[in-house]
Amino acid sequence: MDLPWGDEKSVKFITNVGLITSNGPHGNNISAIEWTHHVSYSPGLIAVCLRPGEATHENILKTKQFGINLCAAGQNILSSVAGGYTGKQHDKIGGLKELGFEFYPGKKIDVPMVKNAALAVECKLVETLKPGTHTIFIGEVLNAENNPEQEPLAYHKGRYWKLAEPISKPSPEKLAEIKAVLDRHRK
Ligand SMILES: Cc1cc2nc3c(=O)[nH]c(=O)nc-3n(C[C@H](O)[C@H](O)[C@H](O)COP(=O)(O)O)c2cc1C
Repeated sequence: MDLPWGDEKSVKFITNVGLITSNGPHGNNISAIEWTHHVSYSPGLIAVCLRPGEATHENILKTKQFGINLCAAGQNILSSVAGGYTGKQHDKIGGLKELGFEFYPGKKIDVPMVKNAALAVECKLVETLKPGTHTIFIGEVLNAENNPEQEPLAYHKGRYWKLAEPISKPSPEKLAEIKAVLDRHRK
């Protein structure tokens, strides 16, 4: 069965917003991609899922490199602009600079990166898969920089959220009870 765009089941996931920066036939560009997933530790691999026809999709196919800037909680406007316009019609990075957002050149790739993102990862394309509507681009990490001061923005039910407080761990008594039960279910 289908799991269409906007369906209540499709929007139930909690995702990050990857601000995907690229260069290529559409020039320097930025897009908002919630389907951004870490898929391997060694080598470090991250998958981003893009709809064919998007400017970012065409840029990545051509230059085989892209930046993944995990959108920070205070950068929701960046996500709205990156995801609300296409690089085929707008210089989004030029517009965002005028709106006060800053970019810096990638260290390993010829792509601008977003200043103050929660995490900044520079990738080279190593694999392309097309299992359904979207293309999965798998990027190998060439450089990754954490910004400890920034929490990532969360995306859920078509809205932006910020993380609140962590859930308390179970008490030692509860952990002991869980262990006793699992010991009885040991294979
Ligand atoms: C919060 C948010 C998340 C999005 N996630 C995705 C996604 O995972 N995959 C995708 O193909 N498009 C996604 N989009 C839509 C693209 O960002 C949108 O089509 C954008 O205009 C593409 O820009 P481009 O043509 O410059 O690449 C998302 C949009 C928003 C606002």
